[in-house]
Amino acid sequence: MRVLVSGGAGYIGSHTVVQLIAAGHEVVVVDNFGNAKPAVMGRLDTLTGTHIPMHAFDVTDKDKTEHLFATERIDAVIHFAGLKAVGESVQIPLDYYQNNLESTFSLLRAMRRHGCHTLVFSSSATVYGDQAPVPYQEDYEPLGAASPYGRTKVMIEHVLRDVAHIETDWRIGVLRYFNPVGAHVSGTIGEDPQGIPNNLMPFIAQVAVGRREKLQIFGDDYPTPDGTCQRDYIHVEDLAAGHVAALNRIVNSDDPIRTWNLGTGTGTSVLEVVKAFERASGQPIPYDVVGRRAGDLPAFWADATRANEELGWHATHTIDDMCADTWRWQSQNPQGYDDSVEE
Ligand code: UFG
Repeated sequence: MRVLVSGGAGYIGSHTVVQLIAAGHEVVVVDNFGNAKPAVMGRLDTLTGTHIPMHAFDVTDKDKTEHLFATERIDAVIHFAGLKAVGESVQIPLDYYQNNLESTFSLLRAMRRHGCHTLVFSSSATVYGDQAPVPYQEDYEPLGAASPYGRTKVMIEHVLRDVAHIETDWRIGVLRYFNPVGAHVSGTIGEDPQGIPNNLMPFIAQVAVGRREKLQIFGDDYPTPDGTCQRDYIHVEDLAAGHVAALNRIVNSDDPIRTWNLGTGTGTSVLEVVKAFERASGQPIPYDVVGRRAGDLPAFWADATRANEELGWHATHTIDDMCADTWRWQSQNPQGYDDSVEE
């Protein structure tokens, strides 16, 4: 298939591009480089041995999106593009609602106009809210989320369901990610957050490489075995494989829409991640335990049974693999994609 990957220069998008091409698909990338570096594209060309067509614009732009579909053959879309920082979404909610919803509307309309009805959408475990029993199962209702970011995912899931309910020629896969970490085994592509990382793994990696002095652990008084929060960390390569599997499944399915969790099914604590990273990198990770971060849940992980059974997919990488691959990326690219820039 010829697959349009929105946000294809971003962290999860770039890893998925590599696996789509390895699986025999053709890829077209659209990215506004709002949270990604143009240098990614050259590295993707090198990794895949192809030249990947690239369109640098924001898919909230309806005219440009329409023009893209009018001029490129597109069989399917994987829609990663969007704003994703939970804390920032509380500060600038209108930007989050506008960007994440309008990009989806713009793509859906252009797709429909050009007879393309195959879509894989990036959702998040955050849609389970704070009441769902652990492990999280796809059928849980009602969806809810604690942040504007999370609510954009809930809203888009509802939009997609309502559209697929009445326009039954759609084939939509909704993928709920747990905590993506890790990097391509080559160490040439990986996560490159702007500014101070919000998420645990990139923060630890920057401590290990000497960019930050120490980690702050947000609370060790949770009702968990070691008192720190547990999450379902999933290697970005497993996540990328889940997209390829979902795409192959939906085109051969009778269901207009189907949702799958992409997680490992196990929880790992903050302290366990710190220890695993020290083992993988050989570097000490100094830390202070500070107060809890607002909005953090004590512990959650996926029930990955549905993806195992229906997609023939399961996560294969351990937390040690995730740390080793993150470390290879971070140590080979201490300043991310932009090695010449001083912070
Ligand atoms: N943590 C620290 N110190 C840090 C950063 C994080 O102790 O500097 C802790 C957090 O308190 C949490 C754990 O590490 O217990 C994981 O935090 P992340 O920020 O890495 O991940 P979250 O689980 O908070 O967030 C992730 C995704 C969001 C998504 C959310 C809910 O990043 O996109 O899961 O599914 F919305």
